[in-house]
Amino acid sequence: MHQAETLEKIMNQNSRGRYAPPVTASVPRVICVTSGKGGVGKTNIVVNLAYSLTKLGKKVVVLDADLNLANVDVLLGLTPRHNLHHVFLGEKTLKEILVKGPGGIFILPASSGVLELSDLTEEQKLYFLAEMAELGEDIDILLIDTAAGINKNVIYFTLAAEERVIVLTPEPTSLTDAYAMIKVLSTRHDVKKFRILVNSAHSEKEAVAVFRQLTLVADRFLETLSLDYLGYIPFDKKLPQAVRAQRLVTELSPHCPASAMFHKLAKFIAEEDKVPQSDGNIKFFWQRLLDL
Ligand SMILES: Nc1ncnc2c1ncn2[C@@H]1O[C@H](COP(=O)(O)OP(=O)(O)O)[C@@H](O)[C@H]1O
Ligand SMILES: [Mg+2]
Repeated sequence: MHQAETLEKIMNQNSRGRYAPPVTASVPRVICVTSGKGGVGKTNIVVNLAYSLTKLGKKVVVLDADLNLANVDVLLGLTPRHNLHHVFLGEKTLKEILVKGPGGIFILPASSGVLELSDLTEEQKLYFLAEMAELGEDIDILLIDTAAGINKNVIYFTLAAEERVIVLTPEPTSLTDAYAMIKVLSTRHDVKKFRILVNSAHSEKEAVAVFRQLTLVADRFLETLSLDYLGYIPFDKKLPQAVRAQRLVTELSPHCPASAMFHKLAKFIAEEDKVPQSDGNIKFFWQRLLDL
């Protein structure tokens, strides 16, 4: 059904035989949010940042890449009828499966079954890539919410994105798990740049102390690693309240401390220049993701 379109894209390959998106296509900024340990706040961070960034006029799509749990929909009380699985099967286009969430954010729902990207056929990968390239022209920022820990899909998404945000909390286990994650990505996959976001901190001082601890361990064992402190989100009881109401805290309680920080962080991200990262020169992350 989408054969002709796919073939056209295959023909549009560069000299290395890789699919090359049209040079005029605008390329979205791709930010992958991950963590060593589950339950540290990734999904809340992704959707609330998406909401705040949308308020600032950015076109934002959230890719729910927690392929086992599809938790963005649960958090927002959405029940998407179709998901990435239908796109991989060629039954739906990406635009057809996009779900509109609160405040004009868009969500790309994952499939709730286990799906390994590496299991996709070459043709499925190409079709998906062509679809993403088209969608990419319409969006400014793609925020990816991944599962926690080191598994194949998480590594794929983390490697493919240009910006990687690692979320951790002041809990000691969160620190050791974040370090383990960084260590694997750095030593086995040569990813050297990470942005660190501390969630559920009781003060900025505590957040900075957590970041310092992480850099101390990392500096001792890992060379040429670049860890940047992106900021923190305070512990705020309004956040679990919003989760229970299946609402975004930024929408339900826009002035609470956590929401204020989400807005501040979104402003910072929106205003910073898109600086290409040095560890990779393929602009469009799907190419890397699908390893074409
Ligand atoms: N800043 C915060 N303040 C208070 N509770 C939080 C905060 N961030 C996350 N939580 C709590 O942690 C739970 C897990 O968050 P979630 O975003 O689902 O984590 P993850 O996606 O990393 O598994 C939330 O439902 C909420 O109750
Ligand atoms: Mg989650």
